[in-house]
Amino acid sequence: MTTQNSAVEADRALKSKHRAMWAQGDYPSLAAEVIPELGAILVEACGVRPGRRVLDVGAGSGNAAIPAALAGADVVASDLTPELFEAGRAAAEKQGAHLTWQEADAEALPFGDAEFDTVLSCVGVMFAPHHQEAAGELVRVCRPGGTIGLLSWTPQGFIGRMFAVMKPYAPPPPPGAEPPPLWGDEDHVRALLGDRVTDVRAERRTVRVERFETPEAFRDYFKERYGPTISVYKNLAGDPERTAALDGALVDLARDGDLGTGSGATVLEWEYLLLTARRAG
Ligand SMILES: C[S@@+](CC[C@H](N)C(=O)[O-])C[C@H]1O[C@@H](n2cnc3c(N)ncnc32)[C@H](O)[C@@H]1O
Repeated sequence: MTTQNSAVEADRALKSKHRAMWAQGDYPSLAAEVIPELGAILVEACGVRPGRRVLDVGAGSGNAAIPAALAGADVVASDLTPELFEAGRAAAEKQGAHLTWQEADAEALPFGDAEFDTVLSCVGVMFAPHHQEAAGELVRVCRPGGTIGLLSWTPQGFIGRMFAVMKPYAPPPPPGAEPPPLWGDEDHVRALLGDRVTDVRAERRTVRVERFETPEAFRDYFKERYGPTISVYKNLAGDPERTAALDGALVDLARDGDLGTGSGATVLEWEYLLLTARRAG
């Protein structure tokens, strides 16, 4: 096998591992119950209007794609994990949204150059392991003058910190894979997009999460439904001590983040970076 062939094979294996990771648990219910407003926030920031052709990358079950379709755009919801589309189709039907669902790796989008007026991703493209390749694809499929919009968890925010907490319990990432929360760092994203975009606007914001009564409830919910957390626990199977240590670390994270309003619920603020840019050219 040539070096190039083995690199292609290794990438294929990595992507099928990622697909299996996101297909387990129940990500669609998490998106709907915990962060349903984020997709609409991104769609509004991108100025999506009727008739616009919009691509959602890492669309999952349509958190951003569905509001974009409801805004009158012609939308393609793309994702590495087509298992998530079933829930997306059901949600779209319930809301009267019409859109297309297509399996696609963000690092090799099956679309032509400049096909879309708007290319957006709500905590999606950040999980593609090779950031420069993914950024290149976002730019390539967006028409000159079109909009690229990204909503990403920041490294210092709650979900960024959750990935840092899980890291010592996870297998080492494959060579060349970059950490997802780097997409929440404005300088990193500016460097990825480079001079192929203009008019970059970036703002750090938070989403308030009051879904969990206790820090333990947060941990158990993620343990049951969030693919990356489930995978880390699977890696610890047969090691009760390290499993207990991770259990404790996730509870500590939520306890530390709890704004403690005395309302009886755990109140968390999850920080994200909202970045929009115009495709140069
Ligand atoms: C946290 S979910 C976000 C889903 C949705 N955008 C939302 O806001 O609920 C991350 C998504 O990225 C997708 N994803 C991960 N790696 C990807 C890749 N290389 N290409 C395309 N999608 C990918 C996963 O399948 C998953 O649906």
